[in-house]
Amino acid sequence: MNQAVIDFLSQRKSAPIDLMGEPGPSDDEIATMIRIASRVPDHGRLAPWRFILYRGDVRHEIGRRLAELAVEVEGPLPEGRLEKERTRFSRAPLVIGVVSLPVENPKIPQWEMFLSGGAAAMNLVLAANALGYGANWITNWYSEVEAGRALLGLKPGERVVGFVHIGTFAGDIPERPRPDPARLVSDYRGPAEG
Ligand SMILES: Cc1cc2nc3c(=O)[nH]c(=O)nc-3n(C[C@H](O)[C@H](O)[C@H](O)COP(=O)(O)O)c2cc1C
Repeated sequence: MNQAVIDFLSQRKSAPIDLMGEPGPSDDEIATMIRIASRVPDHGRLAPWRFILYRGDVRHEIGRRLAELAVEVEGPLPEGRLEKERTRFSRAPLVIGVVSLPVENPKIPQWEMFLSGGAAAMNLVLAANALGYGANWITNWYSEVEAGRALLGLKPGERVVGFVHIGTFAGDIPERPRPDPARLVSDYRGPAEG
């Protein structure tokens, strides 16, 4: 048994993006995280996902464009909300987009390709935490808007699994209520009715 891994997984939680700071991961650490994120169950070995790095000045440019898009989608917005959009990608030093690329396959449903993407995102979060960084996996409104996905570098047909924000976070994260495992699990009692 590896008690250190059990403890690590038992205590894992997301860090608040607004409180993540420099330094972000180095190039070597990013390579480690991507390697771990790609090492996930993947029916048919399709590797139906890819990763986009958002770092440096482009994060501010993305914010400006997101603010413009928010106005296009919703109409005139108050300055506070515009500022929120402008800083969406520049709070943490690094954001990694996990992108699902579903393909037509005679045997493997696209649902399973999306699930594999979720596994990649979760491994990415765990790898970031294991390297000592805070991480937070979010999607937000622009993931569900085609123009938002295009702005963020996705091609038509690609879907956002998540934008994983990664940075240094040293504070305490309050525990949130967790589901009671006893209410989630049951022994099999035969086929479900109606
Ligand atoms: C697919 C997915 C999308 C999410 N999108 C958002 C989001 O847009 N905004 C948000 O505040 N949290 C979002 N979350 C939740 C954050 O990851 C949240 O901070 C996290 O679930 C906290 O729980 P943890 O401490 O167990 O990591 C999303 C989670 C998942 C799995």
